[in-house]
Amino acid sequence: MAGDKVTGTLVFTIFTTVLASFQFGYDIGVINAPQQIIVSHYRYVLGAPLEDRKAIDSYANNSTDEMPEDLYPGTPTPTPGTEEENVASAGLITMLWSLSVSSFAVGGMIASFFGGWLGDKLGRIKAMMAANILSLLGALLMGFSKLGPTHILIISGRSISGLYCGLISGLVPMYIGEIAPTTLRGALGALHQLAIVTGILVSQVVGLEFVLGNADLWHIMLGLPAARALLQSLLLLFCPESPQYLYITLEEEAKAKQSLKRLRGCTDVTKDMTEIKKEKEETLREQKVSIIQLFTNSSYRQPILAALMLHMAQQFSGINGIFYYSTSIFQSAGISQPVYATIGVGAVNTVFTALSVFLVEKAGRRSLFLIGMSGMFFCAIFMSVGLVLLDKFTWMSYVSMVAIFLFVSFFEIGPGPIPWFMVAEFFSQGPRSAALAVAAFSNWACNFLVAVCFQYIVDLCGPYVFFFFAGVVLAFTLFTFFKVPETKGKSFEEIAAEFRKKRGGDPSPRPKAAVEMESLGPTDNA
Ligand code: GLC
Repeated sequence: MAGDKVTGTLVFTIFTTVLASFQFGYDIGVINAPQQIIVSHYRYVLGAPLEDRKAIDSYANNSTDEMPEDLYPGTPTPTPGTEEENVASAGLITMLWSLSVSSFAVGGMIASFFGGWLGDKLGRIKAMMAANILSLLGALLMGFSKLGPTHILIISGRSISGLYCGLISGLVPMYIGEIAPTTLRGALGALHQLAIVTGILVSQVVGLEFVLGNADLWHIMLGLPAARALLQSLLLLFCPESPQYLYITLEEEAKAKQSLKRLRGCTDVTKDMTEIKKEKEETLREQKVSIIQLFTNSSYRQPILAALMLHMAQQFSGINGIFYYSTSIFQSAGISQPVYATIGVGAVNTVFTALSVFLVEKAGRRSLFLIGMSGMFFCAIFMSVGLVLLDKFTWMSYVSMVAIFLFVSFFEIGPGPIPWFMVAEFFSQGPRSAALAVAAFSNWACNFLVAVCFQYIVDLCGPYVFFFFAGVVLAFTLFTFFKVPETKGKSFEEIAAEFRKKRGGDPSPRPKAAVEMESLGPTDNA
């Protein structure tokens, strides 16, 4: 089909767009490998007691036994403390580190509500450019964090980068969905997740000690995204604005056609224009549904609950516990080169995401999600068994390592990519944007909880930590089995009927108008 060919402009535009998703992944993985070095630096800057400093210095400088004075040039000299302060500082450091990891998700959580709004206000291209100001600022704060109070600069830099990622987690899938030809929408949409996992992998490679993950250069690693933000802003100048935005929001038909001609590489764009016009009619016909209506109206209650559960399952599986903390997990599993094992996780993750791009259109969403979750359940058990029995059998470290690799592979087969696009399939035009905002918010909120609690759960459960996540994964697997319908190849009416069936109601599809009327009428608390 002429209109569905992949043109140079389309490739260039998608590449430019997913540079944002790449950033999202980079930010997830970047604080993993240098955790020990940055924590040491926090202790140093905060003036930890002399004993601690000696340990820190010998860690960071273990090849030679030189004195620490200029290990971190430009930082204030620490003041030795008492025993009590020593104990207090350990708690404080754990808290500051947890905040450094989790403030990113707080930013994401707040901004996830505004991605769509900003895209409608400024247009998709300008919104992505404006968002880059946040990316730039966050990167600069972290890049220069050695020059000031490091912990404060890193925590605020991570929060601002989180705001950026929250915005783009709405903007990128929206823009790609709008510029992609219909027949390529699924595959091109999945490139968002592929770019995320590539970002994670690159951050892991950059985190190697001989690259940037060392006491001298770790701040550069955190500041690098500034260059990405500038590059993307420059490239965005050459990307066409979304035809949907131009026609539906601005009512600029000529400009919409112009943009389509560039994207499709042909002069006849009637087919795409007809589709966009149909979408506009649908938007005008179907009333917008508010977030409150999503929860109070009985037609939406089941699908929104399922949407929330899918995102909660994705995050509470503990996946980001691995991406944020895998290096220290591998260390406690007795792996001698934990950083390389972490890179292995990133590589496996990328390969399986690429695989899922093909699988998802062949197998059903529900079945892939269930297969992925069940696999993760068994892997979580093996991970913990490996950690618990490590003292008895040293080869158990390999059991843990293989289990982590498989855990990540199962995640990317289903629970990773599926919630992001399945939620859109649960809802028609009217409630869709509210549902997507709620789903993205819940994803980030759970991401935050895992980021902030993971270290504490590890401290509390020790090697049993993944038994805890196995239990959580099992609970969500059962929920999905009983409550989430298959959506592949089904219309909204059919999906709505499936939900009614699962609720125990009459599955026969009601006319769309009836559903619309219900959304306008008084709330039903049945
Ligand atoms: C999904 C999750 C994200 C996670 C990533 C790992 O995109 O939403 O939190 O880090 O997968 O591949």
